[in-house]
Amino acid sequence: GHVFTYDPGFTSTASCQSTITYIDGDEGVLLHRGYPIEQLAEKSHYLEVCYLLLYGDLPTAEQLEDFENRVTKHTMLHEQMQYFYRGFRRDSHPMAIMVGVVGAMSAFYHDSLDINDPWHREVASIRMIAKMPTIAAWAYKYSIGQPFIYPRNDLDYASNFLHMCFAVPAEEYVVNPILARAMDRIFTLHADHEQNASTSTVRLASSSGANPFACIAAGIACLWGPAHGGANQACLEMLREIGTPDRIPEYIERAKDKNDPFRLMGFGHRVYKNYDPRAKVMKQSADEVLELLGIENNPTLQVAKELERIALQDDYFQEKKLFPNVDFYSGIILDAMGFPTSMFTPIFAVARTVGWISQWKEQLSDPEHKIGRPRQLYMGHPRRDYVDIENR
Ligand code: CMC
Repeated sequence: GHVFTYDPGFTSTASCQSTITYIDGDEGVLLHRGYPIEQLAEKSHYLEVCYLLLYGDLPTAEQLEDFENRVTKHTMLHEQMQYFYRGFRRDSHPMAIMVGVVGAMSAFYHDSLDINDPWHREVASIRMIAKMPTIAAWAYKYSIGQPFIYPRNDLDYASNFLHMCFAVPAEEYVVNPILARAMDRIFTLHADHEQNASTSTVRLASSSGANPFACIAAGIACLWGPAHGGANQACLEMLREIGTPDRIPEYIERAKDKNDPFRLMGFGHRVYKNYDPRAKVMKQSADEVLELLGIENNPTLQVAKELERIALQDDYFQEKKLFPNVDFYSGIILDAMGFPTSMFTPIFAVARTVGWISQWKEQLSDPEHKIGRPRQLYMGHPRRDYVDIENR
């Protein structure tokens, strides 16, 4: 028979060829279609980056306008989908609602399920990018007992999301442009990250020919875990638990202790063995936003910075090349915006949707793609005969 390469966690397996995102983990480089993430975060904006990821090049002004119009047209959810929300316990985690609601989309949008039809694929892609903010915002509204707020298509992508999360029918809500810019930047920094666990999940689900909504629901489920997208929630909760800088050494010691399952959340990465370039931008953004809001003395930010400083000087973290990742500073900004920690991972899911979709489209147009089907090293019993129950 065959000899298989044993590669737990796929640390040395390339599962596909891709032209979307490039990471050099030793140097701390992240490029989307060749463009450095730092430049995209500073000069571009989320929907332009979506276009870039989906179609391969930066859009002209006309192409961008057309793309934004198409996305904007699809921001509403089928009214009947509200029944799905209302079926959940009101204290459900918004990620639980998102896995369910996105999976349920395949029951509503029958005209974009045929993966062999390029038009269906295109419509499914636009729908998903357009509706994900509505889906996440409604999961939040439901969890706090407020009425669903419909999308406003006169607002940009990030402002509309803030509007759907924080507006109430009784009062006028004006989106703070500082927060909208920061929100857009968080979306941009999370847009894609090549073959991470949730993206690989989307590709594996899609390899069987599953419909796009089912595949993205699978990706959302995978993202939820604290080793992946759930780390942003876990990180802010950890920073709050630490509370004051004097308690940092205790937590550093716990993170180093192999008999303690505790890890520093927002630290370490499978690919980056250097500072995560997204974390660098996020840290700068946290400083800017908190200063503009006049809350630069935020105790959580101070704990985060001091924790980073101490960890980076520590032999353990140096030897293992553990640096802050994208999740380390994002929660501080989201907290300052007024989001509860349970919304951090849903926001990651909103942003990563374009990455999942771009990778999904690329996979379907790859002539070499086939069903994902890893093998195993069987370590169990050799053949043995059944023993009747009275003789065991
Ligand atoms: N705190 C303490 N020790 C750590 C940490 C950490 N955050 N991360 C890794 N290590 C240690 C780990 O114990 C291991 O030590 P040893 O070799 O002595 O057994 C060594 O570093 C290598 O770790 P690993 O678990 O083999 O590495 P991995 O590539 O399988 O895991 C990771 C990567 C991101 C899951 C891990 O670093 C981690 O659990 N970090 C905390 C969670 C987190 O912040 N996740 C977000 C990742 S970035 C964005 C995203 O995907 O959402």
